[in-house]
Amino acid sequence: MIAKLHVTKIREIIKETRRIKTFILDMKIKAQPGQFAMVWLPDVDEKPMALSYIDGYAGITVLKLGDFTKKLHEAKVGDIVGIRAPLGRGFKLRDEDKKILIVGGGIGVAPLAPLAEKAVEEGKEVTAIIGAVTKSELLFVNRFEKVGAKVYITTDDGTAGIKGFTTDAMRMLLEKETFDACYICGPEIMMVKALELARAKKIPSQVSLHRYFKCGIGICGACVLDGCGYRVCKEGPTFWDFEIEKCSEFGSYWRNAAGVKVYFKKK
Ligand code: FES
Repeated sequence: MIAKLHVTKIREIIKETRRIKTFILDMKIKAQPGQFAMVWLPDVDEKPMALSYIDGYAGITVLKLGDFTKKLHEAKVGDIVGIRAPLGRGFKLRDEDKKILIVGGGIGVAPLAPLAEKAVEEGKEVTAIIGAVTKSELLFVNRFEKVGAKVYITTDDGTAGIKGFTTDAMRMLLEKETFDACYICGPEIMMVKALELARAKKIPSQVSLHRYFKCGIGICGACVLDGCGYRVCKEGPTFWDFEIEKCSEFGSYWRNAAGVKVYFKKK
């Protein structure tokens, strides 16, 4: 189904961190966690954003990074935006999974907060590892705690929680506990490592990918992954471990607006 363009207003703006804002839109929605919106700013551009609020008024949570997100961060309550949503395939919560692990790094936590809320609603036990570069950049820790998730925090600089990466905390946790499923979103190199850890313990996992989108609805081919042919905007942005392992570009590179490969920096 092709989501229609809704022209709506910004209803509320929440400053989450120094570089991250949530925009609650004057548009009600019913979406799956992990689905996304194509967000159009008149006279600027249209870009994909993960939905961070999926039941009731739609919300997107945006890291100020490039020209588009800088413009969005300058927007005020009442400003007009165009939204096509919900799009793509969201995370799949399976009935048989009782105990799940969520691993989110940086802005990648945005689609995972509604996932945690839905999982708890469905009676699952949720453990979350939330990471950021520094304490003031941690996102949505309160939303995970509010629903009763067991939360582990990591920061690269050690200003909160465990000093190190989410995958360091994940490695330690998996030595003493097991989970029925794992959900991962963050920098792609982090997702590669987290998938390796989950795979070693035979835990079925899903990741949520970010790629350059043009149409957002599976037509233009801009987001096709090499090696597997999946369109991130249509078959994704969430993929199971057994799907993403067929995609040779995962963890290696992405393609920019001109289709040129941009390689990930390996830490
Ligand atoms: S952005 Fe056009 S096919 Fe995905």
